[in-house]
Amino acid sequence: MKYKKYFRKTSLKQKGDGEFFLEEIKKKNPKIFLEVGVFHGVTARNVCELLSELNGNNFQYIGLDLFEKSEENKSEIIPNTNFSNPFKQIYFRYIKRQDPYTIEAVEDLLKKFQNNIHLIKGNSNSVLKKIDMTKVDYVFLDGGHDYNTVKNDLDSCSEVINNDGTILCDDYNLSYAPGVKKAIDEYVENNNYKCEILRNSRFAKIEK
Ligand SMILES: C[S@@+](CC[C@H](N)C(=O)[O-])C[C@H]1O[C@@H](n2cnc3c(N)ncnc32)[C@H](O)[C@@H]1O
Repeated sequence: MKYKKYFRKTSLKQKGDGEFFLEEIKKKNPKIFLEVGVFHGVTARNVCELLSELNGNNFQYIGLDLFEKSEENKSEIIPNTNFSNPFKQIYFRYIKRQDPYTIEAVEDLLKKFQNNIHLIKGNSNSVLKKIDMTKVDYVFLDGGHDYNTVKNDLDSCSEVINNDGTILCDDYNLSYAPGVKKAIDEYVENNNYKCEILRNSRFAKIEK
């Protein structure tokens, strides 16, 4: 399945990465998918398109993001939300009249799946502990890249792995965010989980 960009920004922008990612999801065909770090919602839309093709209406997508830059969030890496392409700037400012990095804009992008989605604005360090993980069977972890945040996110999702689900982490080996790799390596070792490093060390797939 082709990974589409929907005229927005996404971290899966390198050629083939998006398609590789969708193939990984397809192999497991999850029914309740959680994405930590939604950003403009491009991955969210692609996942919903895939799961709807596979399961009709029988899937749920839960997406969590800060959806804002603030003093409180300043230790987290938030990608540059400005477009270098002037057509995209004009499109969002004057035609859509939206900031694509908002929960409202992502809801709009996902509106054809409004009965299947649940978007949450908040910090994963506090929100993940409140989510019922018993039914979640796939997590795409692509939120905060700080060591403590990744450690917290992984710890909060352990039930998913223990119930035979999968956590797929993005940016495993990123030079400017070494805390991601450190947190994943420690987590896998401490819990004796299986971890596959995929796509030139971009993704780490953790399972039981
Ligand atoms: C790399 S982007 C996600 C890209 C998206 N998954 C995609 O495929 O296009 C990382 C996102 O994580 C969010 N984020 C960073 N720290 C967070 C935290 N502690 N809790 C929730 N979201 C966080 C940022 O706001 C940003 O939108």
